[in-house]
Amino acid sequence: MTAPARTARGSEELIRAEEPVLAHNYHPLPVVVARAEGAWVEDVEGRRYLDMLAGYSALNFGHRHPALVEAAHRQLDRLTLTSRAFHNDRLAGFAERLAALTGTDMVLPMNTGAEAVESGIKVARKWAYDVKGVPADRATIVVAADNFHGRTTTIVSFSTDETARSGFGPFTPGFRIVPYNDLAALEAAVDETTAAVLIEPIQGEAGVLIPDDGYLAGVRELTRRKGCLFVADEIQSGLGRTGHTLAVEHESVVPDVVLLGKALGGGIVPVSAVVGRRDVLGVLHPGEHGSTFGGNPLAAAVGTAVVELLETGAFQRRAAELGAVLREGLAALVGRGVVGFRARGLWAGVDVDPALGSGREISERLMREGILVKDTHGSTIRLAPPLTVTAEELTGALGTLEKVLTS
Ligand SMILES: Cc1ncc(COP(=O)(O)O)c(C=O)c1O
Repeated sequence: MTAPARTARGSEELIRAEEPVLAHNYHPLPVVVARAEGAWVEDVEGRRYLDMLAGYSALNFGHRHPALVEAAHRQLDRLTLTSRAFHNDRLAGFAERLAALTGTDMVLPMNTGAEAVESGIKVARKWAYDVKGVPADRATIVVAADNFHGRTTTIVSFSTDETARSGFGPFTPGFRIVPYNDLAALEAAVDETTAAVLIEPIQGEAGVLIPDDGYLAGVRELTRRKGCLFVADEIQSGLGRTGHTLAVEHESVVPDVVLLGKALGGGIVPVSAVVGRRDVLGVLHPGEHGSTFGGNPLAAAVGTAVVELLETGAFQRRAAELGAVLREGLAALVGRGVVGFRARGLWAGVDVDPALGSGREISERLMREGILVKDTHGSTIRLAPPLTVTAEELTGALGTLEKVLTS
């Protein structure tokens, strides 16, 4: 049988075509992207949109950054996969550069963010048994309410979002949940069984919740005093987004373990990593953990090019400078459709007056005006443009937001 002749399908038809064949685990905005460059994407019909979400920070360097595309092309022409059964000639350099960038010793390469979180949990538990001396199968990990660390069964076991959990039990035991930004609650929850405190330095999915000054330093002091690990999930907050390489740097804090993902793959390939000191990551021995694709040469080549971009410091500086523009623009909208916002670097959670619509409705209105954002909960939208966005593009987007909220 010959395949039916295919004609190019328009956006509406493509969206309809997804319905019967794709699991409905997402509710995307009704835009079908076909091309992109820098901070701009173009849909099937050629309409252009400013990407103010940047793949939830996976596109910190914009779409198809030339240095990253070139690194990928070069590697595609040489070697793409070996599995870790063999060594490849790109991995050592990637690990050396990433460890140096993040000021630590060792790297455990994975692919997706959730895998990095799972791997971080396993490392912390192993450390608790092998180094701290917690009795077998008694290790606990303390996490924060309203966290978002991914979607695996273990990770949703300690989510407080019922939509993420409901229907997916039974859950993995060994987690204690405390309110975010509450050092007293953390103090009470950590005991001699605690392997680690696992938190996001800024809670992204919760609406870009920034803890009080001193919280991260407090977590560092508490975990050190009580003899457990501080694991920082920087999968969304890290790699330049907040104006520093890592968001914990705002409080000059050095966690024991940092989880990275999203932007580490340059928006080209999934690349994640657990990075940490040798006395922590050193607890893993051959056969105890692995991933066929983790550390593959294509990922390592792109990841190395990402690290090279961050080594210049230019993207962190841009995020800090343009972050001031973003904050100023949002402050001017408070009382004009915006009821509050939280921003750090080029990352903001914006609470829109619920009378004006849900976050979803505002996002759809912005889309029709050529700006792509994503809602979180209720009437909150988040802004996280590529760090390559210009001041003009940013102020233009804020102008469109004002128009959408006030017209
Ligand atoms: C802080 C944080 N951790 C982990 C993840 C999971 O990453 P992935 O979707 O690549 O599994 C995310 C994704 O949004 C995240 O924001």
